Amino acid sequence: MRILITAGPTREAIDPVRYISNRSSGKMGYSIAQAAVAKGHQVVLISGPVKITPPAGVEFVDVETAREMFEAVKSAIKQCDAAVFCAAVSDYRVAQVATEKIKKTADELTLTLEKTEDILGSCRSTFGFTGILMGFAAETQNVEQNARAKLSSKGCDFLVANDVSRTDIGFDQDRNEVTVYGADGSYKTLPIQEKRAIGETLIQFLENAECNR
Ligand code: PMT
Repeated sequence: MRILITAGPTREAIDPVRYISNRSSGKMGYSIAQAAVAKGHQVVLISGPVKITPPAGVEFVDVETAREMFEAVKSAIKQCDAAVFCAAVSDYRVAQVATEKIKKTADELTLTLEKTEDILGSCRSTFGFTGILMGFAAETQNVEQNARAKLSSKGCDFLVANDVSRTDIGFDQDRNEVTVYGADGSYKTLPIQEKRAIGETLIQFLENAECNR
């Protein structure tokens, strides 16, 4: 299969020296990419800024903002059989990016934010993607309810939910614990383990789905 994988955070500029971002290290997405290459798949890895090296053998696309990630996915996804959206994309960007460093003059500073592109949510409707679609959900509460809502609203075949309120898993940890919800109503919890092992299991989900198509 040819598999598109998004990973890492995005960065949305406030001014030339500051930005909005999040704690994604890229470890989960890169582990999935590594597992896919090891199984002989072609991988397009679209990544926000992280400190880890892309696995050998992937086609690597380096992006910074949600808009750049949206454009990179848009141009690559049509040639792919499956897509995994592991990136922690910023949901908002600053509406008016300052061209000069904002000076510390006022006691309060209000930034107006606007929504970024919903990349996963654009796959079916805007990009016309008909391949296997796996989304992620990073939740701090009502994990199952929110995950199932994202599964159906974004037209996913699978939704991988993780509880990012926990400090032993999720953001920037080497291990994770996730539950994979299927569009057919099934679900499977992958207990706490190395992200590398979770990546291998997620690739098996894609391979089984491809066999059953
Ligand atoms: O990178 P690590 O440090 O290893 O951490 C891994 C992780 C916690 C980032 C990862 O396991 C994870 O949960 N990734 C999804 C993070 C996220 O942004 O979840 P969300 O529930 O906010 O978004 C739902 C889905 O929509 C995700 O597939 C996301 O990639 C996608 N999305 C979100 C916003 C947006 N504008 N466009 C998107 O495509």
